Amino acid sequence: MCGIVGYVGPGSTLEVLLGGLKRLEYRGYDSAGISVIDSEAGLQTRKRAGKLSVLVDDLDQAPIKDAHIGIGHTRWATHGAPTDGNAHPHLGGEHLKLSLIHNGIIENFAELKAELISQGVKFQSETDSEVAAHLVAGEYLKSNDLSAAFRAVVKRLEGAFTLLCIHEDHPDLVLAARRNSPLVIGLGENENFLGSDVAAFVAHTKRAVSVGQDQIVELRQNSVLVTSFDGDPVELSEFKIDWDASAASKGGWPSFMAKEIADQPQAVGDTLMGRLASDGSVKLSEFAGIDALSQVDRITIVACGTAAYAGEVAKYAIEKWAKLPVSVELAHEFRYRDPIITENTLIIAISQSGETMDTLMATRYAKERGAKVLAICNTQGATLAREADATIYTHAGPEVAVASTKAFTAQITAGQLVALALASLRGSMPQAELNELGQELLKLPRAVKEVLDSVGRMKELGKELSDAKSILFLGRNVGYPIALEGALKLKELAYIHAEGFAAGELKHGPIALIEEGQPVIVIVPAKNTPGSLQPKVISNIQEIKARGAKVIAIAEAGDTEVANYADEVFFVPQTHPFMAAQLSVLPLQIFAMELATAKGLDVDQPRNLAKSVTVE
Ligand code: G6P
Repeated sequence: MCGIVGYVGPGSTLEVLLGGLKRLEYRGYDSAGISVIDSEAGLQTRKRAGKLSVLVDDLDQAPIKDAHIGIGHTRWATHGAPTDGNAHPHLGGEHLKLSLIHNGIIENFAELKAELISQGVKFQSETDSEVAAHLVAGEYLKSNDLSAAFRAVVKRLEGAFTLLCIHEDHPDLVLAARRNSPLVIGLGENENFLGSDVAAFVAHTKRAVSVGQDQIVELRQNSVLVTSFDGDPVELSEFKIDWDASAASKGGWPSFMAKEIADQPQAVGDTLMGRLASDGSVKLSEFAGIDALSQVDRITIVACGTAAYAGEVAKYAIEKWAKLPVSVELAHEFRYRDPIITENTLIIAISQSGETMDTLMATRYAKERGAKVLAICNTQGATLAREADATIYTHAGPEVAVASTKAFTAQITAGQLVALALASLRGSMPQAELNELGQELLKLPRAVKEVLDSVGRMKELGKELSDAKSILFLGRNVGYPIALEGALKLKELAYIHAEGFAAGELKHGPIALIEEGQPVIVIVPAKNTPGSLQPKVISNIQEIKARGAKVIAIAEAGDTEVANYADEVFFVPQTHPFMAAQLSVLPLQIFAMELATAKGLDVDQPRNLAKSVTVE
């Protein structure tokens, strides 16, 4: 939700800002804008509706003078349509010398706007953000102290905000503040950076500091001061970024999504690395951060979107292996219904970005009520990781495409590691059996690669079905959340109606949707496992075939029966039934990507979406 970048230093500010925005564009791509201050040209601002490329073309045609300080913004519209006028930065003050960008929602903007209008301020946009620019400019006029003016204003704002502000009279200073929205500092040699996340500046420095809740940053070329909103200095806690800029580039792939799908053997392998010994025993040193973990008597997983489906898959393993009751909650529903939380509740918050506002708010809500919090997160220094008692990082590397792929398979894998480690801690299963499961997990990266090497037919099917108006997905057990994820991928990327159903639910309603030619993708459980639901799903296939469905089955290698009933079968290697989730989702990712590509759609930046939803 809006990407923010700031820079002060001797380098090319235009290059830093536009390069940073390129890497942050996944956060929003409704408009983009920059402001820089040059000693002669003064404050120069350029902003355009549309993707960053529109702004870049505009700057190519009518360049502005490069400078040594500036701020940049890429927008996901909340208040006001995606127009040039509503694009950030917003200007304020005498001779419009002040420039400000904002990520988040200023909830009390209406009353602040009314106050400013009554003082004669003229607004140029319909955004909530513009009030902050005029308020800081107004305070500055009174005190002539930019930092004090900024401090006074942030205390008046309610809601969520990361703000960056520069002023022509102070060409050495970028001011920043954050409440409920992300902000990270990049420490360079003789230069410093600000970003919504480290992707903004990883091409320039690996040294980063995340900014805490309700803190203000005064960023200069050779100094960084962080204080509370009241001005009390805060000690910086530095961390090293463990991936480089090339990890966040397409590397020759046609899209980030294609690259990220292909990254999955490594994403799963890196998530396992250092956590599983060769005998299959699991060690999660992260557990040390959680007090009295062995006392936990229930687990609530909170997450949104794809991460919530990863939670649904993890639930099966935690219940079966660690013998703990698990509920999976959409974070935005969870905290609005008085959920039962005790000090023996373990919250597992799953989030690729670690910045999803709904997930953060649900986590805070539970923490205030005494719960312990374990995060499963992919982004170093993210707010969720800072606030959790412990964090299991999924080492999937940066995920840029809006639709999540490698983060999903890594999240499931991390969830299964947590299940094994909890089972070991609680002694809920013989250690030898747990080690066998650990060894199965160790085989996953190779199996993921095997699937990805054989997806040719799924690509063709994506193209063949590109005119479909609706595609349905069926699954049971862990195949159910995978069916939901397959449908979500298709909605996100191809803008067609897609629904996932629990196969057992079919006869309770969804079967009415089946008519001649309706494509249905069915995730078939492994056949040769105790209590397998494969025969029941085969019956479901027969039921829908009898009503005209075109059935594409995803089944385990060696299941010779499925082909007798389905129109097409895509096989994935044999593995543990829970780990089949990480394999059976792969053809669905490929299918959605190919179908959307065949429709001529941008798979990295689907309409109306943003990767990181930092507003409620
Ligand atoms: C957005 C994205 C989804 C993602 C969800 C949760 O809706 O478009 O792809 O699954 O947020 O994101 P998180 O960063 O918390 O995993």
